[in-house]
Amino acid sequence: MERRRQAVILAAGDGKRMKSDQPKVLCQVLGRPMLTWVEEACRQAGIQEIIVVAGDRPELLRPAVSESCRFVQQRQRLGTGHAVLAARELLDPAADVAVVCGDAPLLRPEDLKSAHARHQQEQNAVTLLCARLEDPTGYGRVVRRADGGVDAIVEERDASASQRQIQEVNSGAYWFSGAFLRDALPQLTAQNAQGEYYLTDTVALAVGAGLRAGAYLCPQPDAALGANSRRQLQQLNGIARRQVLDRHLENGVDIPLEDGILIGPQVRIGPDTQILPGTILEGETSIGPGCVIGPNSMLKNTTVGAFCQIKASWLTDSTVGDHTTIGPFSQLRPGSHVGDHVKIGDFVELKNTSLGDHTSVAHLTYLGDSQVGEWCNFGCGVVVANYDGNHKYRTVVGDRVFVGCNTNLVPPVTLGDGSYTAAGTTVDQDVPAGALAIGRVRQENKPGWADEHVAFKKGPQPGNGR
Ligand code: UD1
Ligand code: CA
Repeated sequence: MERRRQAVILAAGDGKRMKSDQPKVLCQVLGRPMLTWVEEACRQAGIQEIIVVAGDRPELLRPAVSESCRFVQQRQRLGTGHAVLAARELLDPAADVAVVCGDAPLLRPEDLKSAHARHQQEQNAVTLLCARLEDPTGYGRVVRRADGGVDAIVEERDASASQRQIQEVNSGAYWFSGAFLRDALPQLTAQNAQGEYYLTDTVALAVGAGLRAGAYLCPQPDAALGANSRRQLQQLNGIARRQVLDRHLENGVDIPLEDGILIGPQVRIGPDTQILPGTILEGETSIGPGCVIGPNSMLKNTTVGAFCQIKASWLTDSTVGDHTTIGPFSQLRPGSHVGDHVKIGDFVELKNTSLGDHTSVAHLTYLGDSQVGEWCNFGCGVVVANYDGNHKYRTVVGDRVFVGCNTNLVPPVTLGDGSYTAAGTTVDQDVPAGALAIGRVRQENKPGWADEHVAFKKGPQPGNGR
């Protein structure tokens, strides 16, 4: 029978070495908190039951993980062993328990799985995931016996000069037998250079008790890297970015120049889509095939169909159909849904607004809380005044509506199918289908008016030097 599997994610560290006000594990790699990466790796490795060890402010960590995660609090930060001790009551003696660090986001699910297979096969008390690093500075070193078994992990600050030469390092991820871990935790002491309860000392405890400690060497050493400083965080971003870009190139995405391109790990992009410099794609963003995205665009949690162009624009929590063009310099704020063959030009802002197929909003327009049909045309400078200082109201525009330049729509208001508004009209009553709404002061010309303003005429002429 499959043994139950649990994971403990160590996440109580503060942001001191990061010089951050927030918990360290919330520092981001490719726009996603490190903690989220680690949880995802555990889930992908098939571990369903996850315990997060949080520090002072667990509420800050909750949004970064699934709701099913259980939280325990480590009130004083006395080391990694002390952190796992905080979760001891939740550990099942009959389970295999993975312990992983919330600050090592490149942990690969494949490695967690392979290490687990070895852990079971060798019937180890503990199996650590280790890696061989060119520069092992700062990591715990793996001390092997002549027969290849693991004897101990020695932290850098406790290591002798010769131990510091060891390039095999502890990744900070392990599989434990639940029973062994529960026994070992209360036996840890803080007699070391940092005065902390080191989880790593469980290895020597296992060996001392005649149990087996094993090691699984991660084939890609990057997988073991952690972030203790901003510089290391930037390195991890660089590695993760490379991996993501390579995956998209492999899938047929066209990235002629990588400058300023950041793509989050969950983003999906269809083949033949071109991503141009300065483009940031975050969260659950999905882009169809044959699009051009960028330069200088930002998409977050947004779905874009096929054959679209998004130029120098900012889209958040929105959807876009096929064959639609947006920008340059436009914004789709949350809750916007744009259909197929839509044209959104420059300096257009949509908020919580839907546009039907073939509608055109070419320039300088704000549409808030609006529902717009198909084949509509918005002239330059249309504004939906959706907010009266207290409440927000909705505007409804039917199909084939022509909204003249500089129209103000004061909702709640409905423009019927095929209706028109004259340029400069302020619409505050419904317009029936097929009607023209004109609401503006009638023009009056005063003959000779300018000649009577002699003083003005002697001065600079309108538009001259102003
Ligand atoms: C640790 C390991 C080291 C390994 C390295 C890999 C120990 C003693 N050392 O060192 O062998 O090479 O990770 O990255 O385990 N944490 C808590 N509570 C605490 C202390 C730490 O929750 O009291 C959490 C931190 O938030 C972090 C993780 O545990 O996510 C690791 O702690 P950190 O202080 O970064 O350990 P390292 O010095 O990197
Ligand atoms: Ca660390």
